Amino acid sequence: MRIAVLTSGGDAPGMNGAIRGVTRTALERGWEVWGVENGYEGLLEDRRRRLDDRSVGGILHRGGTVLGTARSKEFVTPEGQRRAAENLLGAGIGGLVVIGGEGSLAGAQRLFELGIGTIGIPATIDNDVPHTEMAVGVDTALNTALESIDRIKDTASSHQRAHVVEVMGRNCGYLALMSAIAGGAEAVLVPEFEPDPEGILEALRRSYARGKPHFIVVAAEGAALTAAELHEYINRTPGAFESRLTVLGHVQRGGSPLAYDRILSGRMGAAAVEALVGGETGVMIGLQGRRMERIPLPEVAGKIRPLDPELYELAQVLAGLSASGA
Ligand code: F6P
Repeated sequence: MRIAVLTSGGDAPGMNGAIRGVTRTALERGWEVWGVENGYEGLLEDRRRRLDDRSVGGILHRGGTVLGTARSKEFVTPEGQRRAAENLLGAGIGGLVVIGGEGSLAGAQRLFELGIGTIGIPATIDNDVPHTEMAVGVDTALNTALESIDRIKDTASSHQRAHVVEVMGRNCGYLALMSAIAGGAEAVLVPEFEPDPEGILEALRRSYARGKPHFIVVAAEGAALTAAELHEYINRTPGAFESRLTVLGHVQRGGSPLAYDRILSGRMGAAAVEALVGGETGVMIGLQGRRMERIPLPEVAGKIRPLDPELYELAQVLAGLSASGA
C-alpha cells in the first residue's frame, strides 16, 4: 500500500505530530509513505518526498508544518481537483491523509468523490470543525492567547485601563470565548452573538464602581463589532477607562505544540491509518469523548461547529459584573 499525507490551509501547532503519527503507523504496517509539499498546491505540481522513520524524527515539538502548507486557489476549481486526483492515481497512491481545517476537509471530500481514499484530520486553531471536540492546534493557540491576556492584565491593572484584545478564529468565536473564560476577561465579543456595545459600557462602569483596576475585552476577529471599533467607542466615551488595543494575530499560530496537541495529533494520525486499513475512507477522524470516531466527510465539509451558548453565558457570569451582582 502506498499512501500520501499533506497539510493544508492555515498551519496549526501539532500538525507535525499528525504527520509523524500517520507516517509511523503506516510504516509499522510495511506501507510506503509520501509527504506532499505545500498542501493541495504541491499535489497539483506533484511535489512530494518519500517519508521514512527518520524523516519524521525530531519534529514532534516543532510548530508549523515540516511539509509546508498553502491556500491553493487552483485546487478549488473542478479542473484543479481532477488534476490532483490524476497525479495521485498516476503515482499509484491509494490513500491520502489530509491534515487541515474545514476548507481542506472539503477538498478531501472532492478527492474522495474522484476515487481517492481520503481521510481527514481536523487541524486548525479556530476549532470550527464540527463533530470533533477539539482540532489539533486549538489547545496550544488558546494557551498562547491566554499568556498574552495575562500579561496585558498586568499592565491594564497598573494603569487602570481597558484593553481590547483581538484573537483569531475567522468566523468562529471559540478561541475568543475560551480565552475570555480562561483569562478572566470582563467581556467577550464573538461572531455567533449580537454585539451589545452599550451593555459593555455598562459593565465597564460597574467594573469601575466595584473597584476593578482593569477591564479586559476579548474580541474574536470575526465579531460584528470589531476590536478596533469597540476600542474607539470606549475612548470616545467620557469617564470610561482609557482603552488600548492589541491584535494578537499570527503569534497564536506559531510555537511548540503543548502536550495535549502532541498527544491528540499522534492519536489522530494513528486513527487515520487504521481507517485506511479497514478500507473506510471519505471520513474525518473526530474526538468524541475519549474515542476517535470516523465521521463521513460530507457531515463536516462546508459546515461550522456551533458555539455552546451555555459557555457564552458562563463567561458573563464569571466576569462577576451582572447588574444583580453584589
Ligand atoms: O484558520 C486559521 C486562521 O489563523 C484564522 O484564525 C485566520 O482568520 C486565518 O487563518 C488567517 O489566515 P492567513 O494566515 O492566511 O492570513
